Amino acid sequence: MLNKRNCLKFKQLHKKINTMKIDVLLGLQWGDEGKGKVVDVLTANYDIIARFQGGPNAGHTIEFDNKKFVLHTIPSGIFNENTTNVVGNGVIIDPYILKNEINTITETGIKVENRLLISKKAHVILPSHRLLDAVYESAKGDKKIGSTLKGIGPTYTDKVSRNGIRVGDLGTSGFEKKYEEAKTRHLNIVKQYQFDVETITIEGMSFDAYEKAWFDSLHTLKELNWINSEYFLNNALNQGKSVLAEGAQGTMLDIDFGSYPFVTSSNTITAGVCSGLGIAPSKVGRVYGIFKAYCTRVGSGPFPTELNDESGEKLRKIGREFGATTGRPRRCGWLDMVALKYAIMLNGVTDLMMMKADVLDDFKEIKVATAYKINSKLSSEVPYDLSEEKIEPVFEKIKGWNKPLTGITSFDDIPEELKHYVKYVQEKTGVKVSMVSIGPDRTQTLLA
Ligand code: GDP
Ligand code: IMO
Ligand code: MG
Repeated sequence: MLNKRNCLKFKQLHKKINTMKIDVLLGLQWGDEGKGKVVDVLTANYDIIARFQGGPNAGHTIEFDNKKFVLHTIPSGIFNENTTNVVGNGVIIDPYILKNEINTITETGIKVENRLLISKKAHVILPSHRLLDAVYESAKGDKKIGSTLKGIGPTYTDKVSRNGIRVGDLGTSGFEKKYEEAKTRHLNIVKQYQFDVETITIEGMSFDAYEKAWFDSLHTLKELNWINSEYFLNNALNQGKSVLAEGAQGTMLDIDFGSYPFVTSSNTITAGVCSGLGIAPSKVGRVYGIFKAYCTRVGSGPFPTELNDESGEKLRKIGREFGATTGRPRRCGWLDMVALKYAIMLNGVTDLMMMKADVLDDFKEIKVATAYKINSKLSSEVPYDLSEEKIEPVFEKIKGWNKPLTGITSFDDIPEELKHYVKYVQEKTGVKVSMVSIGPDRTQTLLA
């Protein structure tokens, strides 16, 4: 567990936690910042953890007691027995993936069912959404998004075009008709693209086998508690309960403000909490913005500070930068202050949390991009189109600490150079860094 000093700091942080307001924790880069780890650490301070957007494209890793879990749909508060976990209306659910997640956690002796609540308004990912995702990606050729192929884009498309199926529809008399209509519509699109369904595998299965497994897993979803989560959460806040909203993906993958079209299909920013949970903007409290001490991206799309050299390889190796959902190698680069400040602005971040500082232990020198040079002009703003502009990052150099952070249990004991890096980020952004993470385990967390 956390040492005495950190416990005290957590108490101080807890004092800041608002009642009657929902706090938010989200990623400020291109995803995989370490959201799962920090939500798990903060969970002891909250009655309720709620996911508000995205689906099983998310992979949130939690490590404690030499165990490692990767969550895709279930909020990261599930390992604290006193916390209720809500999958909100803005999330999309694949019943097959959810069932596997529940089984994995249940096998370790943790009871999931009575602490997991599902919004009736959450939309459902159908097997034919997975087909469509594969078809659209393949048709894009070398312009492909690098989607996780979990059916995210097609499911949100059906939601917005008012053709979706919601959790509350499952088990109603009209469900099978709705399912068949959606499947027929999707298969017609597949045909138009002259795609042979037989060539596509989903979770290692043929379409027919996956469809059967998907239907079998509906049973698990139906056994869970379905709620009107907007009432549940607002009532909880009114009763003085503390609620933390857990983001998925990252700000630079936001459908409106990310590096479009290389983005996901939901609003990953604080605004998404309001629509994805039914919480009014005036009820948003603290916003914890998570960022890696460097930067990664998985999938295609622009990445101004990307390192296609030995340093990039070193970050990937030391940081074990491989996708938690797909296993793909993550692209690595230096911290991008232009993008970070943009993300802080969009989200109204009140507290920053620096993740994976330990990955830089071996670097004599660290670089941070503080501006972009676009067509020979300096800019401190993220441009309209990150892909078409020829962006040259302008770097500042920072001295590395060049020693291991392993075993450090208090922020006061970190090397001066890391303190300087933290201060540097604070000064550049104007936001306090209230946590520095120095390892994947719960205990490797220092409050500043
Ligand atoms: P998320 O999607 O934001 O929850 O992040 P992921 O779980 O996809 O990726 C973060 C990875 O970094 C996971 O493997 C974590 O176990 C790991 N991790 C989290 N914090 C730290 C840290 O401070 N140091 C190191 N070395 N690894 C960390
Ligand atoms: P967490 O919550 C990192 C990326 C994909 C792809 C793009 C679109 O673990 O941080 P999609 O599956 O939504 O159609 O993919 O977004 N992507 C992520 N990258 N972390 C994630 O989630 C991601 N979820 C989607 O790689 O480039
Ligand atoms: Mg992840």
